[in-house]
Amino acid sequence: MIYPKIIGTGSHVPEKVITNFDLEKLVDTSDEWITTRTGIRERRVVKEDVPLSALAFDASKKAIRSAGIEARDLDLIIVGTISPDMQLPSTACFLQEMLGAKRAAAFDIAAACSGFIYALSIAEQYIKTGSYKTILIVGAEVLSKVIDWTDRSTCVIFSDGAGAAVLQASSEPSQVVLSTHLFADGQFAKYLYIPGGGSLHPASHETVDKRMHYVKMSGNELFKVAIRSMEEACLIALKHNGLRPEDVDLLIPHQANLRIIEATAKRLNLPMEKVVVTIHKYGNASSATIPIALDETIRAGKVKKGNIILSVAFGGGVTWASTVIRW
Ligand code: UT7
Repeated sequence: MIYPKIIGTGSHVPEKVITNFDLEKLVDTSDEWITTRTGIRERRVVKEDVPLSALAFDASKKAIRSAGIEARDLDLIIVGTISPDMQLPSTACFLQEMLGAKRAAAFDIAAACSGFIYALSIAEQYIKTGSYKTILIVGAEVLSKVIDWTDRSTCVIFSDGAGAAVLQASSEPSQVVLSTHLFADGQFAKYLYIPGGGSLHPASHETVDKRMHYVKMSGNELFKVAIRSMEEACLIALKHNGLRPEDVDLLIPHQANLRIIEATAKRLNLPMEKVVVTIHKYGNASSATIPIALDETIRAGKVKKGNIILSVAFGGGVTWASTVIRW
């Protein structure tokens, strides 16, 4: 039996902190509104000249080091992002060059906040089929570059960061991805999107004047779909593995909103002590939230051998996804 084993993780958040009080000076908002409606107190953003690949590189180097391998051992690199360095080529190709991972194939996937679990699922399949042995997956975003800093419905929420994991084919059933479950429903695409800059509305003076290259979000509509979908994805993942919610040692949810996280935990009857929360300090860095939370939890020594980790994401598309990992 070949198991997809997580042999190393790494993460990186930019140094620059933007507090809710800083945002009060930019848009008509308040620390009280942001804290009570989202749970966010501060978030990290990159300096102007830092591209996505730089964050992804820092997180990847740490993951490779903690895995105890060399970049040249990698067979494949997958980057989950919706804020790549460029439309062409993929950021995964830039990362491959920066790491010196000469043998690795490389591609990006666009599944918004579900990007890391989507990437994990792809890696899981390649390893289980024996096609590839060692795979680097990354969830990374520089959303500060694609949000409208005059739009209070998005600029108070989104942030930057990167997390990475190295998976390797193993005969040992520990630190193993037991299953992944992916979902999508394009009818809700209209609730979270960037209208300009693609082939539908190619970049032009008009698209820029209309601010079409920025993220547009109908948060309230997404909120309801998110809670329903995340609960469903968790229950499907648990059932698939013959587990009950009480068997879960750690829930690592996507960090979109503390209220969504708490509602998901409540629906699963999980106490908040079992739930990893980073949103207060990092905000919503889309595909990066789960790998950052996973890495920080491991580094804090909070993941014990044999622990059952349930992780669940929800994001633009809409997409949602879940995974069960046995440590
Ligand atoms: O990452 C995955 C994808 N994204 C999500 O899953 C996001 C899910 N949605 C959410 O987290 C929440 O819907 C938000 C945090 C985005 C918004 O919270 P909400 O409780 O749904 O607020 P709302 O959009 O219903 O707006 C309530 C009020 C409105 O004012 P009125 O019409 O009641 O007078 C908004 O204009 O709050 C106002 N508002 C704000 N006020 C102060 C909206 N944004 C702000 C703001 N500061 N930043």
